[in-house]
Formats: sequence, structure tokens, C-alpha cells
Amino acid sequence: MNDTRGAKERIAFLRSLRAVRSFRPEPVPEGVVNDMLEVARWTGSASNRQPWTLVIIREREILRALARMEGYAKHLAGAALGIVPVMDGEREEQEIYDEGRLCERIMLAAHAHGVGSSVGWFVGSGVDEVKEMLGVPPQRRVRSAISLGYPDETSRRRRMGQARKPLAEIVREERYG
Ligand SMILES: Cc1cc2nc3c(=O)[nH]c(=O)nc-3n(C[C@H](O)[C@H](O)[C@H](O)COP(=O)(O)O)c2cc1C
Repeated sequence: MNDTRGAKERIAFLRSLRAVRSFRPEPVPEGVVNDMLEVARWTGSASNRQPWTLVIIREREILRALARMEGYAKHLAGAALGIVPVMDGEREEQEIYDEGRLCERIMLAAHAHGVGSSVGWFVGSGVDEVKEMLGVPPQRRVRSAISLGYPDETSRRRRMGQARKPLAEIVREERYG
């Protein structure tokens, strides 16, 4: 698929990734999960340090407990599975960037299989509570979780605004100002 039409389809795929926060109950097949993990594994990182460990959570009670923790990850409660990236906690600035790339790639791999996803952040006491619950050592860094599952198209939960700034507002030629 190296023709223009193939490229257009791939661009449309990339552009169509949206946060999904309501899920149908059916599980995500192992093959799909493996694809997501394989894409995650090949994510580029600063100095190729690969400073991450992925904790996969399928148990409903744990997902619900994580969803209650301080932050913005309530959607974990209804997810088929959650992934919590645990970062090494050695080079903060690089790892924040690495974690974003990692999460985006997992979401895109899921999207390729029709699986919806959303990132959710833990804040305040939520961070330590997540570490405690998952057995993460204090020096490691936990910031986010990804909820995954087949989208519940019937959900009437309001989605956050999805409008985007026009290109004319966000792109400058040659110089910022
Ligand atoms: C760095 C980052 C942090 C985010 N944190 C949360 C979050 O804590 N909870 C949540 O539900 N969505 C979170 N999101 C998803 C955004 O709200 C979402 O991408 C944005 O509203 C645009 O919607 P769309 O992705 O559906 O186009 C986050 C996204 C990014 C990139």
C-alpha cells in the first residue's frame, strides 16, 4: 500500500484517533493485546533507554479501585483492560516525553483493531495509592493509565470538546514571530 490512496487511508486512520471513555463489556482478544504490546515495545525513547514497564490489569475490582483514585481516570472502571505504564524514574524530562509516545502508540495499535482507548492521569494522593495497589517501588514514576475496550457507541456520556484550532492559528513559516 504505497500508493496515494493507501497513504490517504493511513492519514485518515491517524487523524481519526479519538479518546473513548465508554466501553462494551466484551474482552479484548489476546492477539489484539499482543499487537498493542509489540507496538509499545518498539516505541522510540530517549537514548533508546526504554524506561518503562507495562502493568496490564483485567480484574474488574482493581480497575474500579484505580478509577476511584484521585485523578481523571474514572473511565478505567468500565474498561475491558487497563495498562499502567510504570516509568523507571531516572530522567524525568525524557521519561515524560517517552511516556507520551508510548501511550499514543498503544492507543493507535488498539485503534487499528477497532479497540477504543483513553489516557487518564492520576494526581495528588492518587499516585501513591496506585503504586501501593500495584506494588510499584516508590522511586518509580506512575502518572497515567490507558483504558481500553470496544467502544460503547450507545453511550450518551458527553464527550469532551473535540474541536481543533485551525492550521492557520498553529503553524508559522520559518519564524515564530
Ligand atoms: C497528556 C494528556 C493527558 C490526558 N489526560 C486525560 C485524563 O486524565 N483523563 C481523560 O479522560 N482524558 C485525558 N486525555 C485525553 C484528552 O482529554 C483528549 O485527547 C482531548 O480532550 C481531545 O479529545 P480526542 O482525543 O477525543 O480528540 C489526555 C490526553 C493527553 C494528550
